[in-house]
Amino acid sequence: MSKSFDVIVIGAGPGGYIAAIRAAQLGFNVACIDDWKNHQGGPAPGGTCTNVGCIPSKALLQSSEHYEHAGHAFADHGIGLKDLSIDVAKMLARKNQIVKQNNDGILYLFKKNKVTFFHGRGSFAGAAAGGGFEVAVGDEKLTARQVVVATGSVARALPGTPFDEERVLSNDGALRIGAVPKKLGLIGSGVIGLEMGSVWRRLGAEVTVLEALPTFLGAVDEQIAKEAHKAFTKQGLKIELGVKVGTIKSGKAGVEVEYTDAQGAAHQLAVDKLIVSIGRVPNTQGLNAQAVGLALDERGAVVVDAECRTNLPGVWAVGDVVRGPMLAHKAEEEGVAVAERIAGQHGHVNFDTIPWVIYTSPEIAWVGQTEQQLKAAGRAYKAGVFPFMANGRARALGDTTGMVKFLADAASDEILGVHIVGPMASELISEAVVAMEFKASAEDIARICHAHPSLSEATKEAALAVDKRTLNF
Ligand code: FAD
Ligand code: NAI
Repeated sequence: MSKSFDVIVIGAGPGGYIAAIRAAQLGFNVACIDDWKNHQGGPAPGGTCTNVGCIPSKALLQSSEHYEHAGHAFADHGIGLKDLSIDVAKMLARKNQIVKQNNDGILYLFKKNKVTFFHGRGSFAGAAAGGGFEVAVGDEKLTARQVVVATGSVARALPGTPFDEERVLSNDGALRIGAVPKKLGLIGSGVIGLEMGSVWRRLGAEVTVLEALPTFLGAVDEQIAKEAHKAFTKQGLKIELGVKVGTIKSGKAGVEVEYTDAQGAAHQLAVDKLIVSIGRVPNTQGLNAQAVGLALDERGAVVVDAECRTNLPGVWAVGDVVRGPMLAHKAEEEGVAVAERIAGQHGHVNFDTIPWVIYTSPEIAWVGQTEQQLKAAGRAYKAGVFPFMANGRARALGDTTGMVKFLADAASDEILGVHIVGPMASELISEAVVAMEFKASAEDIARICHAHPSLSEATKEAALAVDKRTLNF
């Protein structure tokens, strides 16, 4: 006997659990299926983001930043510390506790919103007798006319070098290294490479990052990327660009990576641990997509239109398993929009105003177009930059690296992009997102009163800089 629902959501990451809650808010009878297990084998909803992504990485970034401040910045404040040490086991236990709070929070939200949760792998079983689809989870069969696929993504391995999570690590292993490695290698200087590299460098590891591309953070505004590269290099992060990774040998003594540098010279890098962070791939394994003829592309992503509709009427897909940036907030927005479309409303996701944040120190955040994109498009623009060096709050914080940069249309002054490298960029970027959503001009921001002293004054000043009239620089 199958259990009947209005909507079945497969996957309880940020895309899935938010879709389920929004659909329940809209009055639907909703089931959400997720297979993630905690250490006891129990349910751990929240997906990659909660279990091995956004949340645990930010917990470790915070712990390691405290350690670095205690070791290097406290003295400037007149604070003396003797015998500074790091208890990695305790740091990891704190991180695990934060993950568990988030898992429990989602289970609570499901109860509160009357979403029926199933722990196990959901797979399409075929068409339901009365219309819609049948989805199997363990021994149970669920049916619904609307199914939302939110099965996320998994780390991409280097061909011939599978993750063993002992020495060759994906994001999963990278977040539970039990002791600070003496030497840590990372392949890929993308978001994970920089965040995880920062964590273990701050704790004392000698970190080398090998990146295939000749440019550092190619998707980031060039001026911002250059500033960030300078800061990371000064901190001691060794980033080699334009390398070609060859054979990787892993044994008891560690990992040996053969590579050629940008000039073609051969090298060997010996490390205790190697994190491979070369991107992620959509996860449709176990979904049994073929049972219903759900179309996947060559990368295994579910093919969707601009509104997350698949080739099957009544089946939708959101988040990392579909095209677009692999970001938790993008997945959430798509989840909400799909639930609203199912209810006949006009859910909407604006891809032009999705913010990006890299939680290193300095943080890097941006929204909209980069200077190089505007140049390539032949768009006439004005730029305004304000350095944190000239911001009083940044000086008081002792964190003056970086800048805020505005790009605005040359004629209309509409904001086209905002790029920040510096303290609390992750929080500052929200103002720019709001401004762009409301199609604000740089002058709009320049005319708004910002609290003093605050980092946000740098945002106002960068907007003033577009019109070449900064007040404090
Ligand atoms: P996921 O979070 O991957 O969730 C999918 C869920 O579905 C999982 O629980 C999976 O087990 C389950 N599942 C899969 N198949 C089935 C099935 N057949 N049946 C039942 N369940 C199934 N993004 C940010 O925006 N900010 C960050 O700071 C950030 N940091 C990150 C740090 C790291 C180290 C990593 C790896 C990623 C980070 N991301 C970050 C990206 C973010 O985690 C993803 O974009 C986000 O989790 C995608 O959400 P999702 O719901 O699409 O998929
Ligand atoms: P990424 O796409 O950010 O970076 C991968 C890097 O690896 C690229 O620079 C690429 O050129 C390089 N690369 C690819 N193949 C290589 C090879 N063979 N040798 C050397 N370098 C190679 O991917 P990453 O860091 O794995 O993260 C995956 C995704 O997870 C991100 O794109 C992002 O969507 C998400 N994420 C988001 C975070 C955030 O929002 N703060 C944090 C961490 C992850």
